[in-house]
Amino acid sequence: MTSTPALSVHDVTRTYGDPGNPVRALDGVTLTVAPGTFTAVMGPSGSGKSTFLNCAAGLESPSSGRILIGGEDVTDWSESRRTVLRREKIGIVFQSFHLMPYLNAEQNVGLPARLAGGRPDKARIRELLAVVGLAERSRHLPAELSGGQQQRVAIARALVGNPAILLADEPTGALDSASARDVLALLRTTVDTLGQTVLMVTHDPVAASYADEVVFMVDGLVAGRMGQPTAEAVAGQMAHLDDLVKVTS
Ligand SMILES: Nc1ncnc2c1ncn2[C@@H]1O[C@H](COP(=O)(O)OP(=O)(O)OP(=O)(O)O)[C@@H](O)[C@H]1O
Ligand SMILES: [Mg+2]
Repeated sequence: MTSTPALSVHDVTRTYGDPGNPVRALDGVTLTVAPGTFTAVMGPSGSGKSTFLNCAAGLESPSSGRILIGGEDVTDWSESRRTVLRREKIGIVFQSFHLMPYLNAEQNVGLPARLAGGRPDKARIRELLAVVGLAERSRHLPAELSGGQQQRVAIARALVGNPAILLADEPTGALDSASARDVLALLRTTVDTLGQTVLMVTHDPVAASYADEVVFMVDGLVAGRMGQPTAEAVAGQMAHLDDLVKVTS
């Protein structure tokens, strides 16, 4: 059975800087993410992971190539259409949680609906706060929550619109290892029980081992992939990325 990919990226390039001295952050990335799967993206600093995620999220436009979300080609969409796309089809989580400090957990999760001019769905918000294990903390402000709890609120907020894909850029980068494990287990649960699609950038082989597949990026290219990753296998591959580049070039 073939199903429409949650995310499909075709030969995407992204160049920064002036034409005389360009930085080619993405050099022709092609990647398909099946719905209901958990993919980790790893690679050295500067290899283009965040640029890739931002292009997939519609936060940046690729210089060339195509991006499809849920089968729909969104490459040439205007900024206003992409704003709606991000609200309706994409959930985004960053290393720093980006919660509104003066809104409590429940209000933060309800914020996307408010920004869209609608009324937050209270039942849905309660359900999601329960999924992320914070049913008892719904009235707490971010400052009254631990880093891990704040990130779980951010994940609930990212899921509230029922997105085609949840994109996470180093979601555990600012957390201690116990909180990181909670967040990773939560992401895994959203895939296994809600059928959510997750794409996560990480530097941590242990974090990557929660995914179904790891995609290795080197110099703005997908240099290799690994199914059923273990932390040891991922760490071993990260130590020998040159081998992948030799194989693919
Ligand atoms: N706004 C920008 N202007 C110019 N160059 C940029 C810009 N954003 C990123 N770059 C460059 O593009 C390349 C890829 O950057 P990117 O942030 O995607 O890397 P990364 O893999 O996420 O790295 P890290 O692991 O450190 O977060 C780098 O060489 C970076 O310096
Ligand atoms: Mg980055």
